[in-house]
Formats: sequence, C-alpha cells, structure tokens
Amino acid sequence: MLSETLTAETATSEADFSLSKTRIKDEDMPAFEDMEFEDLEQMHLDHPGANDEEYRTRRDYIASLGKKFRQTGVITDVEYTAEEQSVWQFVAAQLEEIQSRRASQFYLEAKKNLQISNERIPQLTEMNRRLGELSGFRLAPIEGLVETRGFLSWLSYRTMLCTQYIRHHSRPDYTPEPDIVHEAIGHIPMFTNTEFADFSQFIGHGARVASDRQIEELGRLYWFTVEFGLIEEKGELKAYGAGLLSSFGELEHAFSDRVERREFDLETVINHDFTYSDMQPVLYVVPSYKFLKDVTRKYIESFAG
Ligand SMILES: [Fe+2]
Repeated sequence: MLSETLTAETATSEADFSLSKTRIKDEDMPAFEDMEFEDLEQMHLDHPGANDEEYRTRRDYIASLGKKFRQTGVITDVEYTAEEQSVWQFVAAQLEEIQSRRASQFYLEAKKNLQISNERIPQLTEMNRRLGELSGFRLAPIEGLVETRGFLSWLSYRTMLCTQYIRHHSRPDYTPEPDIVHEAIGHIPMFTNTEFADFSQFIGHGARVASDRQIEELGRLYWFTVEFGLIEEKGELKAYGAGLLSSFGELEHAFSDRVERREFDLETVINHDFTYSDMQPVLYVVPSYKFLKDVTRKYIESFAG
C-alpha cells in the first residue's frame, strides 16, 4: 500500500492577498492530531446509503483512514473496489460532458492541470504531489463534513480537508455529504492555480480571526461562491462552484428556469441563510474573479480592524 507523509514545510505565498496580522509561520502550524471536530462520523439519515449495511461499513472504514492520518501524519491510499471505480467512471464521464458546456474556463484549465483520470479514482497522495509542484497546496484526509470554522481555518495553512469515500451507487448524481467526487472533481482542481490557492489561504486567515457572527457570514460567502458560484465569462454564464461542478444534476439545474440567478451583492450573500438541500433555489453571479477577490479581501480585512 502506498503512503506519503504530509509535512508542514510549505512556504506561504503572499501574492496580492496578504493580511499581515494573520500571517502564519511554519512553526505555528498546528499538528494534525490537534484537529478537533464536531459530529464527524455521523451519516445523514437521508443519505442514499443509510439503509445499505455493506455501504455503511465500507464508508466508515474509509472514514477511519482520516482518523488514522491524524494519529500518524501518514495518508493511507484507499484500495477502491470495482463498484466504487464504476461509480467514479460514470459520474466523471457525465460531468465531463456537461462541464465542457457549463464550467468556467478557469476551472477547465485547472482540471487539466491536476491530471486526474475519468477511469480511476485519484488518491490524495498523488494529487498532493501534483499540487506540491504547482501551488504548494495540500490535502489532508478527514472523516466527514467539518464545521465551518474548522474547515476554513485549515485553508490558512494551505491545507484542504478531504473525504476519501465515494457516494452511494444508487444516486450517482447526488451526495448529501462531501465525497471524493466532490473533492477531486469539484474543489481540488482549483488549487492547482496559485492565485486561487492564495485566495483560499486568505479566506482561511479570515476564518481564524472571525467572530462567531463573522464566521457564519463567511460560511455563507464561501457557500455562494467557492461552492455554488456562477461567473460571467466572455458574456456567458459559467459555473465555478465546486458543488455545481461535482453534481451533474445540480450543474444542469443551475442554468434552468427553476433557479433564481442574482447579481452578487456582498450584504445580501452574507445574510442569505442557505440549506444543504438537494438543489439550491438561488445562486449568485460574480462579474469576474478579480471582483470576487477584491470583495472578499476587503470584507475579510474588515475583521481585523
Ligand atoms: Fe465543498
């Protein structure tokens, strides 16, 4: 079994996204053993695999590798079954077709750079090596959905917490919890881009200094941008949010008449209480990445002062 040690030696990139008060030195990097999370191993009652004993056992086994990582600092590769691989192959092929029409150019280039395959579930270790070459971002396995401050704070260490298990085969279009499809196809490609990696790190800094009210607002901003954002690109509407890009049902839905697409307004977004429902009824459109970066930077800088 392949394994890889995750070290804390990545230099932070300043770019135009520095916030001096929250700069992190490597020696200040917390140990992964110190991660504290709430309700990580609970599976939602509405999960399509909730009544499938075999699936639950398998999911919990793969989840336990996240816990093992925190004890050892070593990522264990998952030996995915043929059934798990076939879920991946089906979803990856469906997504590729829809993404070619609906995904932002920024994302499509990032995905190409990650060099994952539609034929095989990528391991966190191999994606870590690729990110190490390109942006210095890192992935750390985790057992399940993490509460907002915990998840976002780790971005400040250029680290994304990732699940490794895969959704239930009965609903390849949907998962109520993050899974390897959501992580590897939705989120991880974007981290190949140094600017996006810096942007994410900056959001992480914000999460570490935010008040309880601010972290709730920041969670909403993250939700309606990094998770479910739409963008205008060369006069066309495209998706850049990981939640959209990793669900072929939701990606089509986002462009349908059933969704209200609103112009992005910071005050509206940070006060918009969302639900983790199957499909989002309201989405927000940013005019450009520069706009998103500027708005986010100004907003987070207001936390410090
Ligand atoms: Fe996500």
